[in-house]
Amino acid sequence: MSTHNVWTHKGTFLLAAVGSAVGLGNLWRFPYLAGENGGGAFILVYALTIFAVGIPILIAETMLGRASRRSPIMGMQHLTHTHKTSRAWESIGWLGAASAFLILSFYSVIAGWALHYTWQMLTGSLAGADAETIGAGFDALLASPGLLTLYHTLFIIASGLIVGLGIHRGIESSLRILMPALFVILLVVLAYGIATGDFAAAASFLFTFDIAELSLEGWLEAMGQSFFTLSLGMGAIMAYGAYMSGEASLTRTAFAIAVVDTAVAMVAGLAIFSLVFGAGLDAGSGPGLMFVTLPLAFAEMPFGALVGGVFFILVLGAAISSSISLIEPVAAFLVERFDLTRPQAVTAMVVASWALGLLTVVSFNLWAEGTLFHALFGRSAFEFIELLTNIFMPLGGLLIALFAGWALTHGEVMKEMRTNEGWFATWRFLVRFVAPAAVAFVFLRSIPQVEGYLIPAIGALVIVGAFAAGRTFLAEPSQER
Ligand code: TRP
Repeated sequence: MSTHNVWTHKGTFLLAAVGSAVGLGNLWRFPYLAGENGGGAFILVYALTIFAVGIPILIAETMLGRASRRSPIMGMQHLTHTHKTSRAWESIGWLGAASAFLILSFYSVIAGWALHYTWQMLTGSLAGADAETIGAGFDALLASPGLLTLYHTLFIIASGLIVGLGIHRGIESSLRILMPALFVILLVVLAYGIATGDFAAAASFLFTFDIAELSLEGWLEAMGQSFFTLSLGMGAIMAYGAYMSGEASLTRTAFAIAVVDTAVAMVAGLAIFSLVFGAGLDAGSGPGLMFVTLPLAFAEMPFGALVGGVFFILVLGAAISSSISLIEPVAAFLVERFDLTRPQAVTAMVVASWALGLLTVVSFNLWAEGTLFHALFGRSAFEFIELLTNIFMPLGGLLIALFAGWALTHGEVMKEMRTNEGWFATWRFLVRFVAPAAVAFVFLRSIPQVEGYLIPAIGALVIVGAFAAGRTFLAEPSQER
């Protein structure tokens, strides 16, 4: 059964995809990764992968959604059937649903921290506090399962309510208010950063390219980040693509999404580092950058509590516009497959993901060490879940690229992309070979035992594998090719 739902406006897909893409990845993860990996060099690799790998896969994933007009799982069932390929490709849908469920479980816990800091900032309880107090405050938050669960619960309920209201009344109408508001807030914070902080230091930190500063690890991290930040490889974009108007140009839309997403990450980086350097703090403080270093910077600046509060509202809004796109693909599947009502489907997804999120909550305190997860996998439950998603998302992206690159016919792709033969050929080359090889690199990073010199070798194997996949798993290569 097809959902037949379509966004109200031609531009809504762009709005929704930007909402999904812009999130904790841009505001929290990107700045600290850039900070840890030498700034400019990291950004160079990141931008390269966005264009060479991110955009082609973004186009591919949207295409699979729009061509099937179904939720990712049902959509892949439909496409493997109509294209007479192996049913193994349905794993794209299942992997995606599993990733959505896993990502939402911890994304909601971390977004909950922003809820805490919004509150702390607006009540002025951090004003004038010193580094020790702020650091201790963050540690105390993480040490409290009760508080973390409270924020996690509030955040996930808010996300569920939006999706429960449906794609028009819930998702579209909230994004139409949320996204413009977020851009305004981002610019306000940037202006504040320029006025009170050290903008010149931030700009030279982010845009000075010294490739020597970038380790192999940094390269891979930049590539992984370019996936994460575009929400690729797990069906969110496919689900939104299924509602996309047939008229909108896929190619142009994908470029727009990538450009806006990258611009937001850059502006957020400039704003955050202006404040951090202005306060004489360290850029390389890792995940604590947003929750420890930044509050400290705000604490020292005029009107810092107010602007800090507004900043954390921005973080919350960006996180919620992403979390709704994690719920949608699974909820849409439950509606299509089991005829549930939308509220029932959303409740099922959210309750399950919420419960799993409790594992992330206790990973910071009660189960911080010595659990079964540590014994079996050498890491906490949260780190294990994160590792799983770091494997599933690139793997999903790899399969999406291969399927779109090898199974869809020239005619189908041209109908979706509406572009000239040159762009078509470029795209197809990128999804058939470049993207799979790049994903293999990212992928290997999560296997620490792999020696450095093996990585190019395995990359080459994947390129060969891509050929083989094209020949073997696609029963009837179309004559159109
Ligand atoms: N792109 C989101 C961000 O930058 C994170 C994310 C990754 C995501 N995969 C996703 C969001 C899938 C929604 C759906 O914060």
